[in-house]
Amino acid sequence: MDMDDISVRKAYKRYARNYDRIFGKIFEHGRHQLIHKMACNPGDRVLEVGIGTGLSLPFYPEEVTVTGIDISPDMLQIARRYVNGNNPCRRFLFLMDAQRMSFADNAFDKVAAMYVASVVPDPAAMMAEIKRVCKPGGDVFVLNHFSNPQLLPRTLETVMLPFKNLIGFSPRFSMDRFIDCMSLQVIKTYPVNLFGYWTLIHARNCS
Ligand SMILES: C[S@@+](CC[C@H](N)C(=O)[O-])C[C@H]1O[C@@H](n2cnc3c(N)ncnc32)[C@H](O)[C@@H]1O
Repeated sequence: MDMDDISVRKAYKRYARNYDRIFGKIFEHGRHQLIHKMACNPGDRVLEVGIGTGLSLPFYPEEVTVTGIDISPDMLQIARRYVNGNNPCRRFLFLMDAQRMSFADNAFDKVAAMYVASVVPDPAAMMAEIKRVCKPGGDVFVLNHFSNPQLLPRTLETVMLPFKNLIGFSPRFSMDRFIDCMSLQVIKTYPVNLFGYWTLIHARNCS
């Protein structure tokens, strides 16, 4: 059975309160690398889709405008700690589906998607929306775990596959198929996080 939006919302309602404890440190290297490779310029408008509890927000330079969206109200509520405090300017959060965004075309200079591509039910729809809202020549960064042919990770993926709605992501996710559906030019890929099991894709909207 495919992932669906209701299962995703349910899964992240369950995770929300403990998300930072479970996935904070373990995924931090990737978040940090992504924002470093983004090399933002002052005044850049960045969109982050599936921003979750906002763990990436402290890594962005202050002079960059960051708009974060997420489909889970529970995750987003926690992210608001970074927006409602002393530094509210240039940080905006919206409850929105990455597969159907309400932003205008070409609204952002750069777009990031961290650990969300294998969570959305329709990754191709999300990438089509990312391409639409990213200006021509803009950079797109996707960070995710992709299927690994080595025995141990492959076995784990197989064991977890029937529980994907419960765990809130698809453990088997082909990088080749994902890159085909992106219709963006891949600039470079980088292994990140523990054992380099996750991949950071730097792509460009060349259309
Ligand atoms: C694994 S979490 C990643 C959160 C965060 N990016 C991080 O670095 O920890 C996946 C996030 O994607 C969100 N998400 C899933 N489907 C989505 C969709 N269709 N539109 C927007 N956000 C979505 C989930 O609610 C969840 O917050």
